Formats: sequence, structure tokens, C-alpha cells
Amino acid sequence: MPRFVKAVRKESVLDRCGTLVEIEGKDIAIFKRGTKFFAINNVCSHQHFSALHQGQLDGLTVECPMHGWIYDLQTGKALTGDGGVATYIVRIDGDDILIELPDEET
Ligand code: FES
Repeated sequence: MPRFVKAVRKESVLDRCGTLVEIEGKDIAIFKRGTKFFAINNVCSHQHFSALHQGQLDGLTVECPMHGWIYDLQTGKALTGDGGVATYIVRIDGDDILIELPDEET
């Protein structure tokens, strides 16, 4: 069963840039667009640089700073190449942003 894990405080995520968090060995980029928050895997599916949190935002997309692949923040789909990155469901709990992760393997 999936579970929600505290990622970061809301105030740490700014509108103009992503925030990188590491949760259980995964690099996750969190973005704020308007009043909504989005979480995607930070590792670009092009050449696997963990850099999407440093990407340029445009609406609900982010452009990888390495070679310009563009990702949809809602779906993780690459709009300029093949594949995409994982997305995570975000939940707000007071001042905290929680990310849904799959259940731990036993
Ligand atoms: S590593 Fe992201 S576009 Fe190449």
C-alpha cells in the first residue's frame, strides 16, 4: 500500500525554481506553480543527469538544463524526446509537503 512521506516545508518551494529533495535514495524535484505543487523524479530520462530541479519553468513544464528536454509536470511525459520521468502524488499537511511513495518491499 502506498504511503505519504514528508518531503519539505511548503515555504521552501518557490514559484520560480524547483527544490531538490532526497527521499529513500530517490532524487525528487518539487515545483510550485500558482497554488499547486508537483513532484517528479529529478533524473532526466535523456542522459540521466539529476538536474531537473534546476530547469527553466514555463507554465506546467520544465526544461532540463543539460540539453533542453522538456517535461510535463503533471504527467512526467517528455515532450521533446522519448519516455519521461516518474511523477509522485503530492499531499499538503499543514505547512508540509508530503510525497506518495510505493510501499517498502519486505
Ligand atoms: S540530460 Fe536532460 S536533456 Fe540531456
